[in-house]
Amino acid sequence: MRMRVSKVVTIERHIAEEEHLHGGATGEFSRLMRDLTLAIRLISRDVRRAGLNDILGLTENQNVHGEQVKKLDQIANDTIFRAMDHGGHLCVMASEESEDLIPIPQEYPRGKYVLLFDPLDGSSNIDVNVTIGTIFSVYRRVTPDYLGDGTLEDVLQQGLRQVAAGYVCYGSSTQLVYTTGNGVDVFTYDPTIGEFLLSDEKVQIPARGKYYSVNEGNSSKWNDNLKRYIEHLKTPSPDNKRPYSARYVGSAIADLHRTLIYGGIFMYPADSSSPKGKLRLMYEANPLSMIVEQAGGRATDGVRRILELKPTAIHERTPFYIGSREDVLEAEAFLRGEFPAA
Ligand code: AHG
Ligand code: MN
Ligand code: MN
Repeated sequence: MRMRVSKVVTIERHIAEEEHLHGGATGEFSRLMRDLTLAIRLISRDVRRAGLNDILGLTENQNVHGEQVKKLDQIANDTIFRAMDHGGHLCVMASEESEDLIPIPQEYPRGKYVLLFDPLDGSSNIDVNVTIGTIFSVYRRVTPDYLGDGTLEDVLQQGLRQVAAGYVCYGSSTQLVYTTGNGVDVFTYDPTIGEFLLSDEKVQIPARGKYYSVNEGNSSKWNDNLKRYIEHLKTPSPDNKRPYSARYVGSAIADLHRTLIYGGIFMYPADSSSPKGKLRLMYEANPLSMIVEQAGGRATDGVRRILELKPTAIHERTPFYIGSREDVLEAEAFLRGEFPAA
């Protein structure tokens, strides 16, 4: 549900005003977000020009998942690294596009935060002008400052411990959706003044929606309970609550953003060829789950709350069910084999 805003507030001012809500505010977090929004503005510029600068198409190298890395993925990855490596707010970074931890260069100071990111989400949509995005997740380091460089222990924290999470949709407009645990706010980029302006504040996801979002091309590999759930959503009900409409963009941030605003459920389930699903816990599921929970929704792996999962690897995957509370609870009931009387 949108809470349209009339006042003109930039993201910098909004962050500064909210800084006092977080004990020990030193302005370091505000400076971290200032640098991150600069990177996002640069990526937005490159995304908008992708068709013109011949940066479409594949590069020769692949990422850790064996996926062809498209040039825009690399440019976005490098842009975030170069914007974030010297500000003195971070002790370590991790990215979908880098197999191992990304250290802060020796010549720069280290800070108390940790940044994980998916620099470009929805890569399969880059060349066809469909909405793609960026996802980020911020933690406070857990190892002592005197150690200098952050470690894997600082990166592999439960999603519950995130201090901030956000995503950007490079769509009909560039929108940044983010939370620091005080509700979900949406900022829309105005390229004529180079500012992100607050456009919706304290967004709440509807308790139930009429959209389901899943790649049905995988349905032959689903277990029977999941098949029953999807059939249930497609079956007309006397109260007209069903059938739901199917929507699937193929960029998690786009499917998630529609689900946040309109309600319903977005899923990337486990299946017989992907026992942990496809989406990555640390830089896709965790940040998106913090946002949806802050908006009053629910996010699980079909059984457990995403934010409570204990990570063991940077790139680990998790089955993913996220969206309106009632929809996700209903999906979990079907997955447990509990079906309403037909
Ligand atoms: P990325 O481009 O960062 O690898 O993410 C792509 C992900 C996610 O954005 C989307 O929901 C999912 O891949 C789509 O996967 P399928 O094409 O298998 O449906
Ligand atoms: Mn992604
Ligand atoms: Mn990506």
